[in-house]
Amino acid sequence: MSRPIRWGILAPGKIAKKFAEAVRALPDGELVAVGSRAAERAAEFAAAHGIPRAYGSYVELAADPDVQAVYVASPHVGHADHACLCLEAGKAVLCEKPMSVNAAGVRRMRDCARANGRFLMEAMWTRFLPVTAGVRRWLAEGVIGEPRAAIIDFGFRCGWNPASRLLNPELAGGGLLDVGVYTLGYAAMVFGPAEEATGFAHLGETGVDEQASMSLRYPGGKLASIFCSVRTSTPHTARICGTEGSIFVEHFWNAPKAILTRPGKEPEILEQAHEINGFEYEIREVHRCLAAGLIESPDLPVAESLATAETMDQLRAQWQLVFPMER
Ligand SMILES: NC(=O)c1ccc[n+]([C@@H]2O[C@H](COP(=O)([O-])OP(=O)(O)OC[C@H]3O[C@@H](n4cnc5c(N)ncnc54)[C@H](OP(=O)(O)O)[C@@H]3O)[C@@H](O)[C@H]2O)c1
Repeated sequence: MSRPIRWGILAPGKIAKKFAEAVRALPDGELVAVGSRAAERAAEFAAAHGIPRAYGSYVELAADPDVQAVYVASPHVGHADHACLCLEAGKAVLCEKPMSVNAAGVRRMRDCARANGRFLMEAMWTRFLPVTAGVRRWLAEGVIGEPRAAIIDFGFRCGWNPASRLLNPELAGGGLLDVGVYTLGYAAMVFGPAEEATGFAHLGETGVDEQASMSLRYPGGKLASIFCSVRTSTPHTARICGTEGSIFVEHFWNAPKAILTRPGKEPEILEQAHEINGFEYEIREVHRCLAAGLIESPDLPVAESLATAETMDQLRAQWQLVFPMER
């Protein structure tokens, strides 16, 4: 058996814990290093997750010659710099969503990955979940005919903390970049890149979009109706409507269950619990791509992350939502 992929974690925050749990449970992955802006946080995370090396800077992590792949788990505003730091050091990068704050950031990351011949993928874990894979199979088989419309929402109510990454403009807060990216990514999975996007957003006290309602148009008159929020809870469902049936996905981002409904036929149900915590599927995809010598995942190419970032730029331009680091 070949050696496990040796992972480093950049920024040991909340989501990095989940990633660490998944890698530790996989036989073909190994956590070898963690880097934090503070040595004590790196050491604490390393001790909690059985990681042999802890660094008090991201630069030191990127310079570790034993690290093959880095999971970038800093807030959105850091993604482009941190991913490029690692790519330039010859590492493969799995970067948390959204790939970057804007399309310019994603282009910089794409160019950096290509210039260094290194793997880059957005950590859009939803895309690799077994139920999502089943939905994609249904769509490819044409079981609902031609998909014509999608209705997708992802809203939750975070606590009121203006300094938090969800509400702080300095950290590119707001619903669109935090959870809207899932809804837009799901619609892109069904229809491909959007031709046009429009919508309303409510910019709250901190100036970021607390909630937004959007309409997207795709080639051939296909349409998506999308809602996202960090201040209003919604059911988190995706419904894909085709000429011969529809697919309903419960908690589509976590995808425990999908139901296929067609006139005159019994509904079909796809249901699967995660083997570990749901992150194992995107991690396996990275392992598979690295073993095959790929620098992008065919199931989530960088061009797709870029198209979603361009759509988000288009929407934010309409809302006149410019983050401080973009001025
Ligand atoms: N896939 C998912 O399900 C999922 C879920 C939640 C979040 N995410 C994504 O993961 C990323 C991190 O989210 P999180 O919830 O884990 O955030 P978090 O708990 O705040 O952790 C982020 C970490 O980034 C580091 N960091 C670097 N620059 C920072 C800055 N300027 N301000 C604050 N922290 C900074 C900090 O670690 P050190 O200072 O120790 O280096 C911090 O612990 C976000 O891009 C988010 O969209 C993904």
